Formats: sequence, structure tokens, C-alpha cells
Amino acid sequence: MSKSRVLIAVCAVALSTLAVAHNKEDGAAEYRMGLMSVIGWNFGPLGAMVKGKQPFDAAEFSKRADRIANFSDQLLEGFPKGSDNAEHTASKADIWTNWEDFQGKARDFEREAKALAAVAKNNDEAKDKEQFKKVAETCKSCHEKYKKKD
Ligand code: HEC
Repeated sequence: MSKSRVLIAVCAVALSTLAVAHNKEDGAAEYRMGLMSVIGWNFGPLGAMVKGKQPFDAAEFSKRADRIANFSDQLLEGFPKGSDNAEHTASKADIWTNWEDFQGKARDFEREAKALAAVAKNNDEAKDKEQFKKVAETCKSCHEKYKKKD
């Protein structure tokens, strides 16, 4: 085989392996974990500011609250039927048997996250903290019921 033919053969093998690893269900699981990571990444500093572990910075608070709000309405897209068997997932199968309830929790989060982004524009530290706690409750309420413990 010529060098280029070997290369093509190697690429074809690599591509087919990728296709196997990225079937729809695994892709969805990666998507939701990615979303959660982005949300968690931005939620961390907000929590640190609320607890006084990091100086309160209204602009920083608002920027991160906006990011979370922008991702909040995509959550359900990461949980299509059949994605409970994806590898390395921490999602409980109960999500799909209690779909209505799970959807409700996703919407609670979306509503409170969007409210936080709106409140954060007013530069009122006390109100920011109050609304932050409401968002945190929606994360907790969903994780307690639908996320496997690590
Ligand atoms: C409607 C339910 C729901 C809400 C609301 C929710 N989560 Fe999650 N979260 C999950 C589930 C389910 C998983 C497990 C995903 C998986 O592994 O399949 C998860 C996983 C995570 C992870 C781990 C990601 C990874 O890479 O494994 C982080 C971090 C996280 N959530 C943060 C948050 C934060 C912060 C909030 C609120 C601001 C939040 N979540 C709101 C259901 C939710």
C-alpha cells in the first residue's frame, strides 16, 4: 500500500470509532454534562460572592448570571429518551419514568435563573443574594432526586 492509502485507511478506522462513541444517546449525555459544567463553572463564583469568600462585584455577578440564564432553557435537550444508558452518566433512570416532574424541575430552574439575570442588572447586593438562593434550591432539588451520588 502507498503511504497515502495507509493514511486513508487509518482515517477511516478512526472515523468509524468516533461514530460508535458518538451515537445519539452518548452525544446527548456529553451535551448535558457539558451544559452542567458550564453552569456549575459560572455558579461557583456567584456562590463565593454570596458567602463572602470572594469580594462582591456587581458586574462580574451580572455577567455570570447572564451566562447561566442563557443556558437554562437548553437543559431538556440533553435528556432525550434512551439516553439513560449512555456511558458514565450520573443521571438516574427515574428522569424518564417521571418525565413530567423532571421537566417541571428544569422549568423551575430556568425561571429562577432568568429572574437572577434580571435582578443582577440592578446592582442590589441583597436582592442578588436572595435570588441566588432560589436558583441554588432548584439545582439541589433536581440533583437530590435525579442525579446519582458520586
Ligand atoms: C432539572 C434537573 C437539574 C437541574 C435544575 C440542575 N441539574 Fe445539574 N445535573 C442534573 C443531572 C441529571 C446531572 C447528571 C448528568 C449526567 O451525568 O448524565 C447533573 C450534573 C451536574 C454537574 C456535573 C456535570 C458533569 O460533568 O458530570 C454539575 C457541575 C451540575 N449538575 C451543576 C448544576 C448547577 C450548579 C445547577 C443549578 C444552577 C444545576 N446543576 C441544575 C440535573 C439538574
